[in-house]
Amino acid sequence: MAILKILTAPDKRLKQIAQPVTKVDDALRKLMDDMLETMYAAPGIGLAAPQVGVAKRVIVIDVEHVREGSLPQPIFLANPEILEQEGEIRWEEGCLSVPEFFSEVVRSAWVRAKGLNRYGQEVAFEAEGILAVCLQHEIDHLNGVLFIDHISRLKRELALAKMKKKNKGDD
Ligand code: NI
Repeated sequence: MAILKILTAPDKRLKQIAQPVTKVDDALRKLMDDMLETMYAAPGIGLAAPQVGVAKRVIVIDVEHVREGSLPQPIFLANPEILEQEGEIRWEEGCLSVPEFFSEVVRSAWVRAKGLNRYGQEVAFEAEGILAVCLQHEIDHLNGVLFIDHISRLKRELALAKMKKKNKGDD
């Protein structure tokens, strides 16, 4: 496995629409594993392929590993889709591509989703709470949408200005 470089806003590659996966093969599994390792190292609870510069519809999620005493429970999904959604939840979100910025976002409280697992099998499941939030956040990435696109323009500009300053500091 390898740790990949995580792109940060306003990198244009984060705004691309990712392409559907046609086959879950060894190369795709390697990408999934590398993404998971990258996410754990960051640390984060979700990562989408466009964040590591790969324009494919692939996400990895583990909302458990950050909780003390919890075992890792990784979820790998190719071509994830929300089938049904209900209710409303407000959650303070962050993103590895918008480091050190957090803001409340309103999303669906419950979702039913489907996708292909690590073995290319179709899986469908229900999620609520943090897992529902994370799924919606990661699927947004596949459509070129960042969580800061859901907040007010003023707050978004604040976040991007902070990122600009930070990127300068990194050079
Ligand atoms: Ni994100």
